[in-house]
Amino acid sequence: MELIQVLKKRRINPFTIIDVGCGTGILSIAMAKLFPSRIIAVDNDIHSVQMTKRNIVVNKVVQYVKVYNSSGLKGNHLNSRAKYDLIVANILFKPIKLLMRSFIRNLSKAGFLILSGLNIKQTRQLKEISKQFGLKVIDERKEADWGSLLLKRTVVKDQLN
Ligand SMILES: C[S@@+](CC[C@H](N)C(=O)[O-])C[C@H]1O[C@@H](n2cnc3c(N)ncnc32)[C@H](O)[C@@H]1O
Repeated sequence: MELIQVLKKRRINPFTIIDVGCGTGILSIAMAKLFPSRIIAVDNDIHSVQMTKRNIVVNKVVQYVKVYNSSGLKGNHLNSRAKYDLIVANILFKPIKLLMRSFIRNLSKAGFLILSGLNIKQTRQLKEISKQFGLKVIDERKEADWGSLLLKRTVVKDQLN
């Protein structure tokens, strides 16, 4: 949430956003209130999808957030070629690592990626992986043994497949 606010403070307004592993939808709801954006919230757990659908109604952001049952960026309702200005993934290290390539492929030129749900060691590893993908660390947060990263795409890797 703090890294999302960093973007707001820098007056960066991502137009297309995807929240991968939305859980209760808390990050999507916050982003819908902060940015004039179109937001997609996905989760591979049907109960989380139902919970998010309920919560966007309660929080009056239903017109800005679409919610789908999907594993990562793959799902019937998702355009596999869609480009997002911001991808947020507060999931665990293993799924993040597995999804990293698809995140880069679907990140718009100069798009942002917020990754969290990582312990400090994993945060360090992910920083190294991010470099290989042409991502730059813009900011980060550490709390107890938890870390999160705000990354920006700097190199266009068209050859990813
Ligand atoms: C730690 S919870 C975080 C929930 C929410 N983003 C938040 O910040 O409160 C992680 C969520 O990611 C979902 N998840 C894990 N792997 C996923 C994947 N490959 N694709 C979609 N959702 C996934 C889980 O079902 C769970 O709801």
